[in-house]
Amino acid sequence: MQLTLDKFTKSFGDTDVIADMDLTVRDGEMLALLGPSGCGKSTTLFAIAGIHRVSGGRILFGDRDVSDLPSQKRNVGVVFQNYALYPHMTVAENIAFPLEVAGQDRATIKREVRAIAELVHIEKLLNRKPAELSGGQQQRVALARAIVRRPAVLLLDEPLANLDAKLRLEMRSEIRRIQQETGITAILVTHDQVEAMSMCDRVAIMNEGEILQIDSPTEMYRAPVSRFVAGFLGNPPITFLEGVTDGRGDVDLDGLKLPLPARLEALPGGHAVTLGIRPEHFGQSRGVPLRGKVRFIEPQGRETLFDILLENGAMLRSIQPVRQDLSVGDAVSFNLDTEAMLVFAETGERL
Ligand SMILES: Nc1ncnc2c1ncn2[C@@H]1O[C@H](COP(=O)(O)OP(=O)(O)OP(=O)(O)O)[C@@H](O)[C@H]1O
Ligand SMILES: [Mg+2]
Repeated sequence: MQLTLDKFTKSFGDTDVIADMDLTVRDGEMLALLGPSGCGKSTTLFAIAGIHRVSGGRILFGDRDVSDLPSQKRNVGVVFQNYALYPHMTVAENIAFPLEVAGQDRATIKREVRAIAELVHIEKLLNRKPAELSGGQQQRVALARAIVRRPAVLLLDEPLANLDAKLRLEMRSEIRRIQQETGITAILVTHDQVEAMSMCDRVAIMNEGEILQIDSPTEMYRAPVSRFVAGFLGNPPITFLEGVTDGRGDVDLDGLKLPLPARLEALPGGHAVTLGIRPEHFGQSRGVPLRGKVRFIEPQGRETLFDILLENGAMLRSIQPVRQDLSVGDAVSFNLDTEAMLVFAETGERL
């Protein structure tokens, strides 16, 4: 089911949290709402769920305006960070609950609970109480309960935040598998860019109640619209260097000149710009050699991360296939692929 926000607005008292937000989530798509704390992700999700009333605009499920429907009438599945399972009920009873509320008969409930438990891989846990489950198992039960009514949309608010790193990784691909197998349109709220990029078809980046960009993870990483978006994606993060164009195809940084990417060579001089340099574009075979000193080495198993202090005092990060020939303090010359640099205007917009 396609989900549309049409000029969705939400205020609390005098505070406008979201103003005139437009968003379409395609049928069967999983979309991430990604942004810093307080930007309005949960507020948006709660409004879609019907927990908050909209202050303006409309929310559509398919062609149907649900803005004024109470939560129970919208058929949404919701999973929160703190699972909120009913502690006195067994797993089977927890999953069955939404079906009971909907007045389904016993045989249907039994069949549906079993089918969902199989899908989510918790068939063996049906008679346990939530307290007898691990965090990951509880999360699976919460997911099963959210999708047992085959909701029009599945809303996930930081569902993995309480899990340890290994479980988070496992549940990341599990949630995606289940969403794809069921074909439920889903929104994942997160402030973890890796989660957003690895789980979702498209990512919407939000800041201060506004959507700044919606794109596939690959496209958003390749062509962020602004410095803010670029800074939000990438691990280890992009490095920003401030400079001024010289009108002859170069940027003057403090004590260093770097060529602009060819397509931006004609930029007029005297403009303040920010260069965005990703670690995978520094220290490879091609580019402009830059001299510096190794300041920090972080072996990451498959790759090694270096912090290089350039001669002009700027620090650049480099990620390379494992290498053990360097030590902290060594003088190095690494190539910077200046064609791959992102260049931002003073306003933050990408050029
Ligand atoms: N019930 C409320 N009353 C007043 N202000 C609220 C209420 N709920 C949220 N807000 C405000 O709305 C803004 C957005 O909050 P929201 O919970 O949507 O952020 P978020 O993006 O989910 O952040 P986080 O990543 O920390 O969960 C915040 O400034 C918050 O203080
Ligand atoms: Mg939130």
